[in-house]
Amino acid sequence: MPTLKAQAITRASVTAKPFGKTPDGKSVQLYTLTNRGGMRVNIATYGATIVNLYVPDRTGRLGDVVLGFSTIEPYFTKSPYFGSLIGRYGNRIAKGRFTLEGKRYQLAKNNGVNSLHGGLKGFDKHLWTAEVVGQDPPSIRLSRLSPDGEENYPGNLKLAVTYTLTNSGELRIQYAAQTDKATVLNLTNHSYFNLAGAGRGDILAHRIRIHASRFTPVDKNLIPTGKIKEVAGTPMDLREWTAIGANLQAVGGDPVGFDHNYVLDRYPTSRPGLAAEVSEPESGRLMKVYTDEPGVQFYTGNFLDGTIKGKGGKVCRQHDAFCLETQHFPDSPNQPNFPTTVLKPGEMFRSTTIYKFSVK
Ligand code: GLA
Repeated sequence: MPTLKAQAITRASVTAKPFGKTPDGKSVQLYTLTNRGGMRVNIATYGATIVNLYVPDRTGRLGDVVLGFSTIEPYFTKSPYFGSLIGRYGNRIAKGRFTLEGKRYQLAKNNGVNSLHGGLKGFDKHLWTAEVVGQDPPSIRLSRLSPDGEENYPGNLKLAVTYTLTNSGELRIQYAAQTDKATVLNLTNHSYFNLAGAGRGDILAHRIRIHASRFTPVDKNLIPTGKIKEVAGTPMDLREWTAIGANLQAVGGDPVGFDHNYVLDRYPTSRPGLAAEVSEPESGRLMKVYTDEPGVQFYTGNFLDGTIKGKGGKVCRQHDAFCLETQHFPDSPNQPNFPTTVLKPGEMFRSTTIYKFSVK
């Protein structure tokens, strides 16, 4: 991967270029947002997907810190949700079923017996309409209408997501949605991070801290049992800086690794609160995650099995990246004691997640 040096002062900008066509022949655009520090992000209108994210290391060298593909085609069928916007319901719904206002809904079971990440054709597999919001700080808004009955979810859902790259190194993701019928909603971004740079090995030496004293334990199909458990005294406890590799085997799982929803201590919060921090010792890169969501799925790329080649032809292996998917808890539509994911007509859904980059 070419290493570019971040310019001390760059002109902030938004540019766009063609990025191939969807399977049904529609043009996909790739937007580039550059901030004054030279940090930049490429976002595709297909899946509102973060394709590249160039962040300086402690010497000022830019590195692309997210896994992905250099062309659009692999995103149609091969992508394990690399960088995509996930919806209508991020994470799992048990047996793909829920009842809302007395009516039963059956979703496609696309993950064993469960529904995962919005079904067969989730928000990650649709084209979004883009508009430029501003040049400095660079900001774009992607929107779409998810029609009533799409993937069997009720209600016409109007959605907009705004991506802004601030001059203080923050990638801000702001979601807004409205419906005309009660529905369930859980939006997240599925970026796979490697702070040493995509394709530069595993993330076991990265250090992490998650500001959560509780998590939602799951069964073997990764469906919450409904209990909320303390992390204290378990390998799930990441409240102090810990190497990701240190607790990985102890956490277990098949395939092994973290794939858990943490219950964030700073919820409820009117402003995005600090959820998690990750640092990479060699590059010095530090990423802080802020959100107003109640949970974060910490996932260590356990299902990456070496069958996918990402950017630069690099094979994506198990534990080559981590995800911090800010979210409502998995299977909330079937778990009455979890914060609700129901959105009703007349309500305005808003949610913000910030990935903030610096060095240490
Ligand atoms: C989420 C899930 C994982 C896995 C990935 C996609 O992070 O929690 O179990 O399904 O998405 O591979």
